[in-house]
Amino acid sequence: MSFDVNKIRADFPILSRTVYGKPLVYLDNGATTQKPKCVIDKLDEVYFNINANVHRGVHYLSQEATEQAEQARTTIQKFINAEHSREVIITRGTTEAINLVAHSFCQAFCSEGDEIIISAMEHHANIVSWQLQETIRGIKLKVIPINEKGELKLDEFDKLISPKTKLVSIMHISNVLGTVNPIEKIIEKAHGHNIPVLIDAAQSVQHMAIDVQKLDCDFLVFSAHKIYAPTGVGVLYGKEELLNKMPPYQGGGEMIAHVSFKGTTFNELPFKFEAGTPNYADVIATATAIDYVSSIGLDKIKTYEDELLKYAMQRLSEVEGIRFFGTSEHKTSVISFLVKDIHHYDMGMMLDKMGIAVRTGHHCAQPLMEELGIEGTVRASFAFYNTKEEIDILVEGVKRVAAMFA
Ligand code: ALA
Repeated sequence: MSFDVNKIRADFPILSRTVYGKPLVYLDNGATTQKPKCVIDKLDEVYFNINANVHRGVHYLSQEATEQAEQARTTIQKFINAEHSREVIITRGTTEAINLVAHSFCQAFCSEGDEIIISAMEHHANIVSWQLQETIRGIKLKVIPINEKGELKLDEFDKLISPKTKLVSIMHISNVLGTVNPIEKIIEKAHGHNIPVLIDAAQSVQHMAIDVQKLDCDFLVFSAHKIYAPTGVGVLYGKEELLNKMPPYQGGGEMIAHVSFKGTTFNELPFKFEAGTPNYADVIATATAIDYVSSIGLDKIKTYEDELLKYAMQRLSEVEGIRFFGTSEHKTSVISFLVKDIHHYDMGMMLDKMGIAVRTGHHCAQPLMEELGIEGTVRASFAFYNTKEEIDILVEGVKRVAAMFA
């Protein structure tokens, strides 16, 4: 192991708490990650020392807050290797970022009958945002099917592309199956037809290094809270050329150049898409989280998490009657399973009483559940602060529940 997991765990105060008198085993990182002390301290520092509205005051505090918030944008830009910081739009989360693109991209580029391609494994945010545009603008959704391992059928993708395809919007890693989609190939194929691609990196940016210029994706979205940062911050990366052609998403302060009752002109990027007071305190602390992750190194994080995944798959395979959903070789640290006919909710509740936090249900991917012919799964999702000992506790817990239902 190339890094000291115990030292890392010490950075996360919540990991040393107990629930129901048992040590917390937190395996719900796909839903949200825990926060290191440096991020919590940064939030304290902002509210104790710096707090003032950004971009609005000539006074010292406002300038300091603005400087730190814009510095945070640059930190995010460098983290994903965007060419310009103006290509980094701050949103409330992945969901708002996709809604922004769906609204503004369709307004700029789509007419009735135009098509958007998504996949069968998408999260609701990357389905419903487009369905709203089906109603508003008469666009049509086309869906790439998956195979029995939970991988995209790329040959079917080829068949879905038509002269009416305006955008491909696809998740990098499935929040249910853990499948790492071949986004490089998808981008290459789509670009071969001059079709832009949006990558939903909500489940990938915390597990592997992302380089938007190398990928050449046209949009990329993620949520800060899944990468050890505070809640309420999302990132939309977009190529400047496209963002400039798209109309604003929301109206309000900061997104304007000049307002009069005769008409309004809009601000430049990135502010054109950032109406109202931004969530600057959490944005500043997001940069602290990114610096923290970068100081450990995503390559080391990936190697360690891959090791955890391999160990967890091996150990869970010992459980009689277990069924895994998502068995691709290209998989990251998300394991969805069911054991015999035990309801996912019963399994989750009983594991909870043992101090083990997993997610149960449809994971905001109901169409995928329909495809798999199930109502939901139990999902264990790992972060780099998890340990093999915690996986042992999970496996013993699952075995105990299975024995109770035998
Ligand atoms: N999309 C998040 C999850 O998978 C909320 O849990």
